Amino acid sequence: NSWCRALSVALQLCLSVFVMADTVYGDVSYSFPEEMKRGSVIGNLAKDLGLDVNRLSVRKARIDTEGSRKKYCDINVNTGELTVAERIDREGLCGKKTVCVIKQELVLQNPLESQRININVQDVNDNAPVFKKDVIKLEISESADKGSRFLLEEAHDADIGTNSVQSYSISQNEHFTLSVSSKAGGRVYCELVLDKELDREREQEVTLILTAVDGGTPPRSGTVAIQVTVLDANDNAPVFTQAVYKVSLPENSPLDTVVATVSATDADYGVNGEVSYEFSHVSDNDLATFSLDPNSGQIVLIASLDYEGETIFELQIQATDGLGLVSFATVVIDISDINDNAPVILIDTLYSPVPENVPLSTEVGIINVQDRDADNNGQVHCSLQQNVPFKLVPSIKNYYSLVTTGELDRELVSDYDITITATDEGSPPLSSSKTVHLSVADVNDNPPVFEEQVYSAHVKENNKPGSSVCTVAATDPDWRQNGTVVYSLLPSDVRGAPVSSFVSIHGDTGVIHAVRSFDYEQFKSFKVLVLARDNGSPPLSSNVTVSIFISDENDNSPQILYPSPEGNSFMTEMVPKAAQSGSLVSKVIAVDSDSGQNAWLSYHIVKATDPGLFTIGEHSGEIRTQRDISESDSTKQNLIVSVKDNGQPSLSATCAVYLLISDNLAEVPELKDMSYDESSSKLTFYLIIALVSVSTFFLTFIIIILAVRFCHRRKPRLLFDGAVAIPSAYLPPNYAEVEGAGTLRSTYNYDAYLTTGSRTSDFKFVTSYNEGTLPSDLTLKKTHTSIDDLEGFTSATNGSQVWHFVLNFFSCVSDVYILSGSAILTFLGSVAVYFLTLQHS
Ligand SMILES: *[C@@H]1O[C@H](CO)[C@@H](O)[C@H](O)[C@H]1NC(C)=O
Ligand SMILES: *[C@@H]1O[C@H](CO)[C@@H](O)[C@H](O)[C@H]1NC(C)=O
Repeated sequence: NSWCRALSVALQLCLSVFVMADTVYGDVSYSFPEEMKRGSVIGNLAKDLGLDVNRLSVRKARIDTEGSRKKYCDINVNTGELTVAERIDREGLCGKKTVCVIKQELVLQNPLESQRININVQDVNDNAPVFKKDVIKLEISESADKGSRFLLEEAHDADIGTNSVQSYSISQNEHFTLSVSSKAGGRVYCELVLDKELDREREQEVTLILTAVDGGTPPRSGTVAIQVTVLDANDNAPVFTQAVYKVSLPENSPLDTVVATVSATDADYGVNGEVSYEFSHVSDNDLATFSLDPNSGQIVLIASLDYEGETIFELQIQATDGLGLVSFATVVIDISDINDNAPVILIDTLYSPVPENVPLSTEVGIINVQDRDADNNGQVHCSLQQNVPFKLVPSIKNYYSLVTTGELDRELVSDYDITITATDEGSPPLSSSKTVHLSVADVNDNPPVFEEQVYSAHVKENNKPGSSVCTVAATDPDWRQNGTVVYSLLPSDVRGAPVSSFVSIHGDTGVIHAVRSFDYEQFKSFKVLVLARDNGSPPLSSNVTVSIFISDENDNSPQILYPSPEGNSFMTEMVPKAAQSGSLVSKVIAVDSDSGQNAWLSYHIVKATDPGLFTIGEHSGEIRTQRDISESDSTKQNLIVSVKDNGQPSLSATCAVYLLISDNLAEVPELKDMSYDESSSKLTFYLIIALVSVSTFFLTFIIIILAVRFCHRRKPRLLFDGAVAIPSAYLPPNYAEVEGAGTLRSTYNYDAYLTTGSRTSDFKFVTSYNEGTLPSDLTLKKTHTSIDDLEGFTSATNGSQVWHFVLNFFSCVSDVYILSGSAILTFLGSVAVYFLTLQHS
């Protein structure tokens, strides 16, 4: 280095010499580098100016500065050399001027002489390039494009020329290059060029070193740090932590439940990185159900959920950063089912009313069961309450058939309230129930039933036509017309007449009315069949027998059969004079058509010729002597006998009994007067005719019977027909009248009956004649027979014995006996007629 310096000095010296030659007669100029040491020789003035060195000190040579100028040089008076007296800094003296000249003056005395010295200061590379700041701060947005240029501050070098800044360089980096160019005027400047885009999110700051180098020898350099701050650009959208958030939520979650929290991050800085959340495209329903906190991303339930309404929600969530970059995520909310719906029972079809005769397992209804819950929560079982004749049969899915399991009977149960219970399989299970009202329709399956098995009615005879006899009632449990009972009489005959002529029945009430007045003496009872029919279709019916018993009223007065009430004289009884006390004299025979008490007769003597002589048996009617007959007693004794029945009030009849105390009929001539009259002679005449005709009849009869007998041995039995003949004369007169004109009863029915009646009216019932002794079915046949029959009849102690005897007789004797009996009777009849004729004559 010193070598180099010396070389440069030598060079400059040569140059100075050359310059000096130019200024021999003028100024002396030297070129001299700056910053030389003090005392360094710039040049030899004495020599260059031709001055005598020895004289220099004499002449007091000195360097004078003009004015206030600084004295940079000095002269060595001993050698005449110009030396550096003061530090010469070209940059300090001249700055950036390319030519820097220091003007100094050499002053000499004796003679005073002044010589100008120009020292041309030459630049030496003594300054390095310098930057104004230690750090250059740059802010570059990360969004800056490639190729963007950023002008950099220049470095300053006090040196000039080539010693000033000649080039720049930049430290190795991946983003920037340097572009250096020179301007007019020689200044060099540089620009930072973006070679690769910045990313704030990767590198927030880039630090570079910029070096400026000058052209000196050796070169000097200066450096500065470039701090590039990468400014954020909103180049990052928010990013969700998950693309899809899946949440399961029970449907019974309370309000304000936090369902999910979405989160998105944004790599950007500041506002660019501030994320807010909102729903993207969601339905109004979803908006009403969930709320989203824009800052925290919390999704909160704000409305109650219903699995049965919606089972899944898909919410699009949008995250937005400060300057509007968005991204999306989906929140899938799966609603899980809770058993919150009870089953619902729907009556699909109901066949009500159901006819009661439907067969077993008839479908009467269809039930639909629904449960909105899912899976087991929606699995439903149905059941019925006990004790109804129905069951549920599962049909197709969720449908059940309601079918009968037993017979229905409307008359027992007309309505059913069937409670259906449906239970699901949830836990806890929910159930619901529904009541179905089923009514049973009527079928006419019950016939009317009479309240009693047999009805019997008791009616007093002589009732008013139209009076009610009795009431029958039948019930039918069926409904309305199927159970409406109508009564009617079943047609039948009562003793040959239609039953409707006796009674009628009211169709609705069942009251049986008498159509006519009844006569106990005609018949005591009859039966009526009453039909009860309902109005169903077809109708059902049942019948019942109504026995109508006619009870007796005391409407018949006793009828005296013997003696004849007319008081015929030949009815006189003969009483032997020798009759002792208590001997039977006669008997009054009376009958009463009534029965019971009404026919219970009592006999009294109401008037007597000799009240103490005769007495009458109160009930037998037997007249007996009370004491022995004495000679003093009158031969003619008359008794008035009254016969009373025991009815309430009682009815009576009287008769006269003529008694003749005599042993011989001839002894009593008065008898003829007493008894003889027109009628008796007439009677005798009739009797004779009767006798002849009876005799003839019997003879004819016998001949016929004999004839028949020989032909057919069995026939003759029929002859007597079980009937007994009694003389018409002894029948009560009213019977005769009844038969003849029908005027006995005033009621029209009776008349009507008689006029329309058959010849059965020939037969009169006398069952009440003497109860207990006569068979009730025995009839008295009214025939014209001989009065002689009466002989046997009256001689018997009472009537019943007579009948009994006759009956036995006829039933026992053989045909031969009958024939001989008939002959005897004929003979007796002839004898009686003979005696009577004799008596009259
Ligand atoms: C009566 O029964 C018949 C069947 O026998 C039925 O059709 C009808 O509806 C029933 N009437 C009423 C009023 O119930
Ligand atoms: C009366 O009822 C009986 C059964 O109770 C029946 O056999 C008879 O045929 C019925 N008579 C009439 C005329 O309906």
